[in-house]
Amino acid sequence: MNAPRLSDGVISLDQHTLADADAHLAGEDDEQGRRFGWYPSRSSPERVRKAIEKWQADWAAAGLTRTLAIRDLGTGVLAGGCQVRLRADQIAEMSYWVFPAHRGKGYATRAIVLTSDWVFGELGIERLELYVEPDNEASRGAARRAGFTEEGLLRAREQIGDERRDMVLYSRLPTDPPPMRS
Ligand SMILES: CC(C)(COP(=O)(O)OP(=O)(O)OC[C@H]1O[C@@H](n2cnc3c(N)ncnc32)[C@H](O)[C@@H]1OP(=O)(O)O)[C@@H](O)C(=O)NCCC(=O)NCCS
Repeated sequence: MNAPRLSDGVISLDQHTLADADAHLAGEDDEQGRRFGWYPSRSSPERVRKAIEKWQADWAAAGLTRTLAIRDLGTGVLAGGCQVRLRADQIAEMSYWVFPAHRGKGYATRAIVLTSDWVFGELGIERLELYVEPDNEASRGAARRAGFTEEGLLRAREQIGDERRDMVLYSRLPTDPPPMRS
């Protein structure tokens, strides 16, 4: 399966290539490392290249994980990424990251909306879930703006680094109303 190329006139989403490795590495910050659990370690060039090769292989094999690059549509600059993980029963989970220089411009919100519409339309997903730490206001804001419904606090839901953390569960269904447009 080929990765889609999705756009809303401001950002585009498509497959990563190895040419993205340097920008991906440069974009990672401590906030991203804390949220995804590898802080205080940093990614190495080798680890990023391996990740991109894995993401490409996942697309080629139509695997259970689909990762997309978030780009500024005007410049093509890599601004972050998002990942959908397919689960049983037409349920999928999604996570996302935006590099510091591009935060606060609505890119995460846009990426969540574009990806949601694609997984509902093309993959037959009936329920898309986000798991967000309670103090991650930026991510919770993006989830809300993208039309997700907050369903509650799941205690000790995820092992992040060396501790189990609570997560707020958000979901969106294909039948939910469209998200707010700015
Ligand atoms: C979470 C993250 C992806 C948000 O990316 P972003 O592109 O800046 O998000 P958006 O611009 O779409 O902002 C979404 C909403 O949150 C608000 N917001 C953004 N940063 C915020 C902050 N630090 N505190 C409070 N609200 C914030 C925005 O104002 C916006 O709400 P609004 O449209 O009502 O004003 C980004 O901060 C990031 O990559 N963090 C590290 C990785 C991470 O936490 N990923 C999510 C794991 S669940």
